[in-house]
Amino acid sequence: MKAIQLVKYGKADRAFRITELPVPEPGEGEVLIKVSSFGLNFADVMSRLGLYREAPKTPFVPGYEVVGTVEKSNVASLKEGERVVAFTRFGGYAQYVTAPELAVVPLPERVSGAAGTALATQYCTAWHAAIDMANIREGELVLIHAAAGGVGIALTQIAHMRGATVAGTAGSEEKIRFLKDSNVEYAVNYREKDFVEELPRLTGGRLPDVIFDPVGGKNFSRSRKILAVGGRIVTYGASDQLNHLKNPLAPLKLLFGFGFLHPVGLIMNSKGVLGVNMLKIADHKPEILQKAMQQVVRLAAEGKLIPVVGKEYPATEIAAAHAFLESRKSIGKIVMNWE
Ligand SMILES: NC(=O)c1ccc[n+]([C@@H]2O[C@H](COP(=O)([O-])OP(=O)(O)OC[C@H]3O[C@@H](n4cnc5c(N)ncnc54)[C@H](OP(=O)(O)O)[C@@H]3O)[C@@H](O)[C@H]2O)c1
Repeated sequence: MKAIQLVKYGKADRAFRITELPVPEPGEGEVLIKVSSFGLNFADVMSRLGLYREAPKTPFVPGYEVVGTVEKSNVASLKEGERVVAFTRFGGYAQYVTAPELAVVPLPERVSGAAGTALATQYCTAWHAAIDMANIREGELVLIHAAAGGVGIALTQIAHMRGATVAGTAGSEEKIRFLKDSNVEYAVNYREKDFVEELPRLTGGRLPDVIFDPVGGKNFSRSRKILAVGGRIVTYGASDQLNHLKNPLAPLKLLFGFGFLHPVGLIMNSKGVLGVNMLKIADHKPEILQKAMQQVVRLAAEGKLIPVVGKEYPATEIAAAHAFLESRKSIGKIVMNWE
């Protein structure tokens, strides 16, 4: 089978090798999937830059999700030939991949393969963060950073579904237009306006009850400043690292940027700080991942969640697709298709 290995950290055009590898054998409790599409995630860019601690050593096949058909099944609940979406703990950039039963969900024909790739990682992350962790309630004000990205769009749709009002940040006017078209009530271009001042100005002083932050560092500590009493902030990424790539003190800058918090401060203001790491959830609580996947696939099939596919590429154009995601210009999901 063809597979795409990450062989060298750094720029996308020199990082990958398309190679032949043996088709893997599914173990007990696993299925083998013939992959038609796989998705890109920002964590793939972080891995390529050598910034993702949980990635295997090079060379390895990245990839967190695939859509395809079950080729071999060692589990009773999934049949050969069934169309599925799967969360893969690496290995997704390949024509075949194995996955454990709890990370595979049948994908109804009504959901396109491209849309399906968004459901496994980005929508499950958003679901777990918004529903299991933050428990967004009707009428709350929810601030979503990187709101035009894959997870950001998923969070926006889930927050709207819960009857919340959504505020979002993004880094270009094109994305701000997209957010307004997506019924995001308050959209802030953080390159032009400081969201800490701009959001309360736009809302007439109302502060967010829930904040989702994938940027980390100072963005997290500054977000905390505007969290309402009774609020929850979910931290689930550290893309801020990319702002300091050439600085040898970058890890310290990121760490100190997050700031320090004491539980007494959380008690005094009745606030919660929550962390999300879907790889850890997949490893230690796979039933949470399965439930999230079942919910988002069902809601997508019912047309209640509608993944936005930003761009599709042939799998062989992996370098171009990675460079596009890294450029911070992408809106929604980047999807790769095998011919
Ligand atoms: N913890 C988990 O389990 C988990 C799971 C999935 C994703 N994530 C995290 O969620 C985030 C979004 O992932 P995604 O796959 O949906 O990607 P994405 O949002 O589609 O693309 C990344 C976006 O992040 C913003 N960004 C990139 N670098 C930035 C920087 N240095 N400072 C500020 N903003 C920056 C850019 O948008 P703007 O500049 O326009 O805002 C960019 O378009 C990533 O940080 C990813 O690591 C975490």
